[in-house]
Amino acid sequence: MKHLLKMMDLSTEEIIEILNLADQLKYELKHGIPHTYLSGKTRGMIFQKASTRTRVSFETGMYQLGGNALFLSSSEMQIGRGEPVQDTARVLSRYLDGVMIRTYEQAEVENLAEYGNIPIINGLTDLSHPCQVLADLMTIREYKNKFEGLKMCYIGDGNNMANSLTVGCLKVGMDVTLACPEGYYPAESTLTFAKQYPNFKIVNDPVEAAKDADVLFTDVWASMGQESEVEQRKIAFKGYQINDAVMAVAKPDAMVQHCLPAHREEEITTKVFEEHANEIFDEAENRLHAQKAVMVMLMGDKD
Ligand code: CP
Ligand code: NVA
Repeated sequence: MKHLLKMMDLSTEEIIEILNLADQLKYELKHGIPHTYLSGKTRGMIFQKASTRTRVSFETGMYQLGGNALFLSSSEMQIGRGEPVQDTARVLSRYLDGVMIRTYEQAEVENLAEYGNIPIINGLTDLSHPCQVLADLMTIREYKNKFEGLKMCYIGDGNNMANSLTVGCLKVGMDVTLACPEGYYPAESTLTFAKQYPNFKIVNDPVEAAKDADVLFTDVWASMGQESEVEQRKIAFKGYQINDAVMAVAKPDAMVQHCLPAHREEEITTKVFEEHANEIFDEAENRLHAQKAVMVMLMGDKD
Protein backbone atom coordinates (compact mmCIF):
# COMPACT_ATOMS: atom_id res chain seq x y z
CA MET A 1 0.00 0.00 0.00
CA LYS A 2 1.62 3.30 -1.15
CA HIS A 3 -1.30 5.70 -0.69
CA LEU A 4 -4.86 5.75 0.62
CA LEU A 5 -6.81 7.37 -2.22
CA LYS A 6 -10.11 5.46 -2.15
CA MET A 7 -11.62 2.24 -0.72
CA MET A 8 -11.66 0.68 -4.18
CA ASP A 9 -7.83 0.57 -4.14
CA LEU A 10 -7.60 -1.51 -0.95
CA SER A 11 -7.66 -5.30 -0.96
CA THR A 12 -9.65 -7.12 1.72
CA GLU A 13 -6.34 -8.21 3.27
CA GLU A 14 -5.12 -4.60 3.43
CA ILE A 15 -8.36 -3.46 5.07
CA ILE A 16 -8.09 -6.18 7.73
CA GLU A 17 -4.40 -5.38 8.27
CA ILE A 18 -5.26 -1.69 8.88
CA LEU A 19 -8.09 -2.63 11.28
CA ASN A 20 -5.87 -5.03 13.23
CA LEU A 21 -3.17 -2.40 13.59
CA ALA A 22 -5.83 0.17 14.57
CA ASP A 23 -7.04 -2.17 17.35
CA GLN A 24 -3.44 -2.58 18.53
CA LEU A 25 -2.80 1.18 18.54
CA LYS A 26 -6.04 1.79 20.43
CA TYR A 27 -4.96 -0.78 23.01
CA GLU A 28 -1.50 0.79 23.30
CA LEU A 29 -2.98 4.27 23.75
CA LYS A 30 -5.50 3.15 26.38
CA HIS A 31 -2.81 1.26 28.34
CA GLY A 32 -0.18 4.00 28.17
CA ILE A 33 2.13 1.87 26.01
CA PRO A 34 4.45 4.13 23.98
CA HIS A 35 3.87 3.87 20.23
CA THR A 36 6.00 6.60 18.71
CA TYR A 37 6.36 4.81 15.37
CA LEU A 38 6.57 8.08 13.39
CA SER A 39 9.16 9.86 15.47
CA GLY A 40 10.78 12.68 13.47
CA LYS A 41 8.24 12.48 10.62
CA THR A 42 6.13 15.40 9.39
CA ARG A 43 2.75 15.15 7.66
CA GLY A 44 1.14 18.07 5.87
CA MET A 45 -2.65 18.38 5.83
CA ILE A 46 -4.26 20.41 3.05
CA PHE A 47 -7.87 21.45 3.70
CA GLN A 48 -10.05 22.93 0.96
CA LYS A 49 -13.21 22.20 2.99
CA ALA A 50 -14.13 22.55 6.66
CA SER A 51 -13.38 19.80 9.18
CA THR A 52 -13.60 19.02 12.88
CA ARG A 53 -12.95 15.28 13.22
CA THR A 54 -10.51 14.79 10.37
CA ARG A 55 -8.31 17.70 11.32
CA VAL A 56 -8.23 17.06 15.06
CA SER A 57 -7.82 13.28 14.81
CA PHE A 58 -5.01 13.52 12.26
CA GLU A 59 -3.17 16.19 14.26
CA THR A 60 -3.55 14.37 17.56
CA GLY A 61 -2.76 11.01 15.98
CA MET A 62 0.46 12.29 14.46
CA TYR A 63 1.47 13.79 17.81
CA GLN A 64 0.76 10.51 19.64
CA LEU A 65 2.92 8.69 17.07
CA GLY A 66 5.83 11.02 17.83
CA GLY A 67 5.61 13.08 14.64
CA ASN A 68 4.39 16.50 13.58
CA ALA A 69 1.32 17.55 11.62
CA LEU A 70 1.15 20.80 9.65
CA PHE A 71 -2.28 22.30 9.01
CA LEU A 72 -2.25 23.83 5.54
CA SER A 73 -5.35 25.81 4.68
CA SER A 74 -5.60 25.95 0.91
CA SER A 75 -6.82 29.55 1.09
CA GLU A 76 -3.46 30.49 2.60
CA MET A 77 -1.38 28.41 0.19
CA GLN A 78 -0.47 29.19 -3.41
CA ILE A 79 -2.65 26.24 -4.47
CA GLY A 80 -5.59 28.48 -3.47
CA ARG A 81 -4.30 31.07 -5.96
CA GLY A 82 -4.01 28.60 -8.80
CA GLU A 83 -0.58 26.97 -8.39
CA PRO A 84 -1.05 23.57 -10.03
CA VAL A 85 -1.44 20.56 -7.77
CA GLN A 86 1.30 18.83 -9.79
CA ASP A 87 3.81 21.50 -8.71
CA THR A 88 2.53 21.60 -5.15
CA ALA A 89 3.01 17.82 -4.96
CA ARG A 90 6.60 18.00 -6.15
CA VAL A 91 7.45 20.80 -3.72
CA LEU A 92 5.81 19.20 -0.69
CA SER A 93 7.60 15.93 -1.47
CA ARG A 94 10.89 17.74 -0.78
CA TYR A 95 9.85 18.76 2.75
CA LEU A 96 7.32 16.30 4.11
CA ASP A 97 6.99 12.57 4.76
CA GLY A 98 3.32 12.44 3.78
CA VAL A 99 0.28 14.54 2.90
CA MET A 100 -3.39 14.28 3.77
CA ILE A 101 -5.73 16.27 1.54
CA ARG A 102 -9.43 17.14 1.81
CA THR A 103 -10.75 18.57 -1.43
CA TYR A 104 -13.50 18.42 -4.06
CA GLU A 105 -12.22 16.50 -7.07
CA GLN A 106 -10.92 12.97 -6.65
CA ALA A 107 -8.57 13.75 -9.58
CA GLU A 108 -6.75 16.27 -7.41
CA VAL A 109 -5.87 13.60 -4.86
CA GLU A 110 -4.84 11.18 -7.60
CA ASN A 111 -2.64 13.91 -9.18
CA LEU A 112 -0.96 14.63 -5.90
CA ALA A 113 -0.11 10.93 -5.62
CA GLU A 114 1.08 10.73 -9.22
CA TYR A 115 3.34 13.79 -9.17
CA GLY A 116 4.65 13.62 -5.61
CA ASN A 117 6.76 10.81 -4.21
CA ILE A 118 5.37 10.67 -0.67
CA PRO A 119 2.29 8.81 0.63
CA ILE A 120 -1.00 10.65 0.06
CA ILE A 121 -4.11 10.12 2.18
CA ASN A 122 -7.56 11.17 1.00
CA GLY A 123 -9.24 13.03 3.87
CA LEU A 124 -12.52 13.31 1.87
CA THR A 125 -13.38 14.18 -1.71
CA ASP A 126 -16.74 14.47 -3.42
CA LEU A 127 -16.27 10.84 -4.49
CA SER A 128 -14.94 9.14 -1.40
CA HIS A 129 -14.13 9.20 2.30
CA PRO A 130 -11.91 6.17 2.96
CA CYS A 131 -10.60 7.28 6.39
CA GLN A 132 -14.16 7.49 7.68
CA VAL A 133 -15.10 4.08 6.37
CA LEU A 134 -12.05 2.42 7.92
CA ALA A 135 -13.17 3.85 11.27
CA ASP A 136 -16.72 2.66 10.56
CA LEU A 137 -15.54 -0.89 9.84
CA MET A 138 -13.42 -0.83 12.99
CA THR A 139 -16.48 0.17 15.01
CA ILE A 140 -18.72 -2.47 13.44
CA ARG A 141 -16.15 -5.16 14.24
CA GLU A 142 -15.84 -3.90 17.83
CA TYR A 143 -19.59 -4.19 18.37
CA LYS A 144 -20.38 -7.27 16.29
CA ASN A 145 -17.07 -9.20 16.36
CA LYS A 146 -17.41 -10.13 12.69
CA PHE A 147 -18.34 -8.84 9.22
CA GLU A 148 -19.39 -11.96 7.35
CA GLY A 149 -23.16 -12.17 6.96
CA LEU A 150 -23.95 -8.82 8.59
CA LYS A 151 -26.33 -6.56 6.69
CA MET A 152 -25.40 -2.88 6.24
CA CYS A 153 -28.17 -0.52 5.21
CA TYR A 154 -27.42 3.04 4.05
CA ILE A 155 -30.27 5.52 3.73
CA GLY A 156 -29.86 8.81 1.85
CA ASP A 157 -27.65 10.50 -0.68
CA GLY A 158 -25.43 8.44 -2.98
CA ASN A 159 -22.50 10.63 -1.93
CA ASN A 160 -18.87 10.11 -0.85
CA MET A 161 -20.00 8.13 2.22
CA ALA A 162 -22.34 5.91 0.21
CA ASN A 163 -19.58 5.20 -2.32
CA SER A 164 -16.93 4.31 0.24
CA LEU A 165 -19.24 2.39 2.55
CA THR A 166 -20.64 0.28 -0.26
CA VAL A 167 -17.19 -0.71 -1.48
CA GLY A 168 -15.70 -1.18 2.00
CA CYS A 169 -18.58 -3.24 3.40
CA LEU A 170 -18.76 -5.49 0.33
CA LYS A 171 -15.00 -6.07 0.44
CA VAL A 172 -15.14 -7.35 4.03
CA GLY A 173 -18.05 -9.70 3.29
CA MET A 174 -21.10 -7.76 4.44
CA ASP A 175 -24.46 -7.60 2.68
CA VAL A 176 -25.20 -4.07 1.46
CA THR A 177 -28.57 -2.47 0.73
CA LEU A 178 -28.86 1.21 -0.15
CA ALA A 179 -32.02 3.32 -0.17
CA CYS A 180 -31.48 6.39 -2.37
CA PRO A 181 -33.98 8.55 -4.24
CA GLU A 182 -33.93 8.41 -8.04
CA GLY A 183 -31.37 10.86 -9.34
CA TYR A 184 -29.19 10.60 -6.24
CA TYR A 185 -27.60 7.19 -6.73
CA PRO A 186 -23.91 6.54 -5.99
CA ALA A 187 -21.20 7.02 -8.62
CA GLU A 188 -21.23 4.77 -11.69
CA SER A 189 -17.87 3.31 -10.60
CA THR A 190 -19.42 2.25 -7.27
CA LEU A 191 -22.47 0.70 -8.90
CA THR A 192 -20.36 -1.18 -11.47
CA PHE A 193 -18.21 -2.58 -8.66
CA ALA A 194 -21.15 -3.40 -6.38
CA LYS A 195 -23.20 -5.14 -9.04
CA GLN A 196 -20.62 -7.94 -9.14
CA TYR A 197 -21.85 -8.89 -5.67
CA PRO A 198 -25.11 -10.86 -5.35
CA ASN A 199 -25.47 -9.48 -1.80
CA PHE A 200 -25.74 -5.86 -3.05
CA LYS A 201 -29.10 -4.15 -3.55
CA ILE A 202 -30.25 -0.60 -4.23
CA VAL A 203 -33.89 0.39 -3.64
CA ASN A 204 -35.90 3.59 -3.21
CA ASP A 205 -37.77 2.69 -0.02
CA PRO A 206 -35.87 3.19 3.28
CA VAL A 207 -38.10 0.77 5.22
CA GLU A 208 -37.59 -1.96 2.62
CA ALA A 209 -33.82 -1.37 2.76
CA ALA A 210 -33.68 -1.50 6.56
CA LYS A 211 -35.38 -4.87 6.91
CA ASP A 212 -33.22 -7.15 9.14
CA ALA A 213 -30.29 -4.72 8.99
CA ASP A 214 -27.50 -5.17 11.55
CA VAL A 215 -25.97 -1.73 10.94
CA LEU A 216 -27.73 1.39 9.66
CA PHE A 217 -25.92 4.38 8.20
CA THR A 218 -27.05 7.73 6.92
CA ASP A 219 -25.41 11.03 6.02
CA VAL A 220 -26.40 14.62 5.38
CA TRP A 221 -28.75 15.39 2.50
CA ALA A 222 -26.46 18.15 1.19
CA SER A 223 -22.70 17.67 1.39
CA MET A 224 -20.01 20.32 1.52
CA GLY A 225 -19.95 22.08 -1.83
CA GLN A 226 -23.71 21.55 -2.39
CA GLU A 227 -24.85 24.55 -0.34
CA SER A 228 -26.80 26.01 -3.28
CA GLU A 229 -28.86 22.77 -3.54
CA VAL A 230 -29.99 22.66 0.10
CA GLU A 231 -33.65 23.58 -0.52
CA GLN A 232 -34.07 21.33 -3.55
CA ARG A 233 -32.46 18.46 -1.65
CA LYS A 234 -34.78 18.92 1.34
CA ILE A 235 -37.62 18.04 -1.02
CA ALA A 236 -35.83 15.18 -2.80
CA PHE A 237 -34.75 13.50 0.46
CA LYS A 238 -37.93 13.90 2.49
CA GLY A 239 -38.51 10.55 4.23
CA TYR A 240 -34.91 9.36 3.72
CA GLN A 241 -34.40 9.30 7.46
CA ILE A 242 -33.34 6.88 10.19
CA ASN A 243 -36.33 7.00 12.52
CA ASP A 244 -38.46 4.66 14.63
CA ALA A 245 -40.26 3.21 11.60
CA VAL A 246 -36.94 2.24 10.03
CA MET A 247 -35.53 0.90 13.32
CA ALA A 248 -38.67 -1.18 13.86
CA VAL A 249 -37.87 -3.41 10.87
CA ALA A 250 -34.11 -3.64 11.52
CA LYS A 251 -32.68 -6.36 13.80
CA PRO A 252 -33.50 -5.67 17.48
CA ASP A 253 -29.78 -5.23 18.26
CA ALA A 254 -29.05 -3.11 15.18
CA MET A 255 -26.46 -0.40 15.55
CA VAL A 256 -26.61 3.07 14.02
CA GLN A 257 -23.65 4.93 12.58
CA HIS A 258 -23.26 8.50 11.34
CA CYS A 259 -19.99 10.01 10.13
CA LEU A 260 -21.06 13.40 11.57
CA PRO A 261 -21.84 16.25 11.46
CA ALA A 262 -25.52 15.20 11.75
CA HIS A 263 -28.58 17.25 10.86
CA ARG A 264 -31.13 16.12 13.39
CA GLU A 265 -34.70 15.70 12.13
CA GLU A 266 -33.40 15.59 8.55
CA GLU A 267 -31.48 12.36 7.87
CA ILE A 268 -31.88 11.07 11.46
CA THR A 269 -34.32 11.81 14.29
CA THR A 270 -32.97 13.22 17.55
CA LYS A 271 -34.48 10.22 19.35
CA VAL A 272 -32.66 7.56 17.31
CA PHE A 273 -29.47 9.63 17.33
CA GLU A 274 -29.46 9.88 21.13
CA GLU A 275 -30.42 6.21 21.61
CA HIS A 276 -27.34 5.26 19.57
CA ALA A 277 -25.03 8.07 20.66
CA ASN A 278 -22.46 5.69 22.19
CA GLU A 279 -22.02 3.84 18.92
CA ILE A 280 -21.85 7.08 16.96
CA PHE A 281 -19.23 8.68 19.20
CA ASP A 282 -17.21 5.45 19.36
CA GLU A 283 -17.22 5.68 15.57
CA ALA A 284 -15.93 9.26 15.80
CA GLU A 285 -13.22 8.19 18.26
CA ASN A 286 -12.13 5.39 15.98
CA ARG A 287 -11.16 7.94 13.31
CA LEU A 288 -8.11 8.56 15.50
CA HIS A 289 -7.07 4.91 15.79
CA ALA A 290 -7.83 3.91 12.20
CA GLN A 291 -5.94 6.89 10.78
CA LYS A 292 -2.96 6.26 13.04
CA ALA A 293 -2.85 2.74 11.60
CA VAL A 294 -2.95 4.11 8.04
CA MET A 295 -0.16 6.58 8.81
CA VAL A 296 2.05 3.93 10.42
CA MET A 297 1.52 1.60 7.46
CA LEU A 298 2.26 4.31 4.91
CA MET A 299 4.98 6.29 6.65
CA GLY A 300 6.45 4.09 9.35
CA ASP A 301 9.32 1.66 9.52
CA LYS A 302 7.19 -0.81 11.46
CA ASP A 303 6.65 -4.16 9.60
N1 CP B 1 -16.76 12.83 9.53
C1 CP B 1 -15.88 13.80 9.18
O1 CP B 1 -15.07 13.64 8.26
O2 CP B 1 -15.95 14.89 9.96
P1 CP B 1 -15.24 16.31 9.70
O3 CP B 1 -15.87 16.90 8.47
O4 CP B 1 -15.51 17.08 10.93
O5 CP B 1 -13.76 16.07 9.48
N1 NVA C 1 -21.05 13.77 2.87
C1 NVA C 1 -20.51 14.72 3.81
C2 NVA C 1 -19.58 14.04 4.75
C3 NVA C 1 -18.94 14.94 5.77
C4 NVA C 1 -17.97 14.24 6.66
C5 NVA C 1 -19.82 15.83 3.06
O1 NVA C 1 -19.11 15.54 2.09
O2 NVA C 1 -19.99 16.99 3.43
